[in-house]
Amino acid sequence: MAKIYKVAIIGVGARGGDVYGQLVNNKKDQFDIVALCDLRQERLDRFGEIFGVDKQNRFLDENEFFKEKRADVVIIATPDNCHVRHALKAFEKDYDILCEKPLTCNKEECQKLLAAQKKYGGKALVCHVLRYAPAFMKLHDILSSGEIGRLVAIDALERVGYGHQAHSYVRGNWRNTESAAPMILAKCCHDLDLLQYYANSKCKSISSVGELTYFTSENAPEGAAKRCLDCKYADTCPYSATYAYLKVWKDRGEPEDMWPFNVIATAPNTEEKLVNAIKDGPYGRCVYYCDNNVVDHQITTMTFENGVKASLTMTAFTAFGGRRIYFHGTLGEVVLDEHDNNIKLTKFGCQTVTYSLSDLIEKGYGHGGGDGGLINKLYDMLSGVA
Ligand SMILES: NC(=O)c1ccc[n+]([C@@H]2O[C@H](COP(=O)([O-])OP(=O)(O)OC[C@H]3O[C@@H](n4cnc5c(N)ncnc54)[C@H](O)[C@@H]3O)[C@@H](O)[C@H]2O)c1
Repeated sequence: MAKIYKVAIIGVGARGGDVYGQLVNNKKDQFDIVALCDLRQERLDRFGEIFGVDKQNRFLDENEFFKEKRADVVIIATPDNCHVRHALKAFEKDYDILCEKPLTCNKEECQKLLAAQKKYGGKALVCHVLRYAPAFMKLHDILSSGEIGRLVAIDALERVGYGHQAHSYVRGNWRNTESAAPMILAKCCHDLDLLQYYANSKCKSISSVGELTYFTSENAPEGAAKRCLDCKYADTCPYSATYAYLKVWKDRGEPEDMWPFNVIATAPNTEEKLVNAIKDGPYGRCVYYCDNNVVDHQITTMTFENGVKASLTMTAFTAFGGRRIYFHGTLGEVVLDEHDNNIKLTKFGCQTVTYSLSDLIEKGYGHGGGDGGLINKLYDMLSGVA
């Protein structure tokens, strides 16, 4: 019988609880969740019950949690600025780790982590989930097959979307580099990782420019209130919290447990909980009056050692989200468009072949199947398959 690995999770928030925790918990023939750690009691209570973790194995204090080795592998899904500290403690305790991205913004810390990994020998996997998403793997297969000839250039567009920008990068956890990674890592580490993966070469030179252009007090409309519930523009502003968290919630059938509503108030969500969160919490603030400093658009250009050139545009200012990546080869082109839900491959002089992303993606998995693919990869890594 295949081995069942014991799992501990530190940071049982959106990623550690709702995503990886749930995925791992659904694979009882491979994983058994035995310990949890989070600063928030309500998170420990909720996921402790769902995953069936004994009360004595739910920890509010990371020092207590790391006092002993409690499992085979620890999933580190705490905020960006905790990853290095928690990964070092985990390596020291002889754990294998699954660590959320970005590991760190700092080269010395990367080297420290690498040294610790070598010293203690734990296996490590970083949550670059798109590497395991079928659509993105399909692109890699197409490029490797030589169907578009030699790859010359990549033109990538990361459409953050106005609503996601307001939620995560203006009001939310990734708004300020005091506590989170800058946008180019927080949002674009997936894109930069993929560009390098597809170029299949080391990056030789890179330049990047970005700016916080719009979500600042100078751009607030005349007489806008500091909180959306008090604002005369609440019904007309596209960034209004009452629109994003009440109207959209109602339009979606008042779900009890759905992102982003379960971020602003712990599930199960009700109208009363959401109104209270908008009234008093960070997600009810006017987007022009937040303590945000991360960019709302950034353009990066890269040249790889094998001559491939790539550009990446990340922008908040799109009506919808999803990546579009355009590959230019000497014998053809291939375009992935997450919004249009397809990959289009055109060999020069031939008919375009279209692959539907829905046909490639396993249903029910986030990040285009990447979250589920990552957990499969974790099992393979632990069991020595990959
Ligand atoms: N791989 C991806 O595609 C992806 C997507 C979104 C977020 N992330 C990353 O995942 C991480 C978690 O993001 P999230 O959206 O789940 O955030 P979250 O705020 O929902 O969850 C983080 C949890 O960690 C807990 N926490 C904070 N400090 C702690 C500590 N010292 N000890 C124990 N628990 C602590 C918080 O209480 C919270 O419940 C971030 O680093 C984020 O950048 C990755």
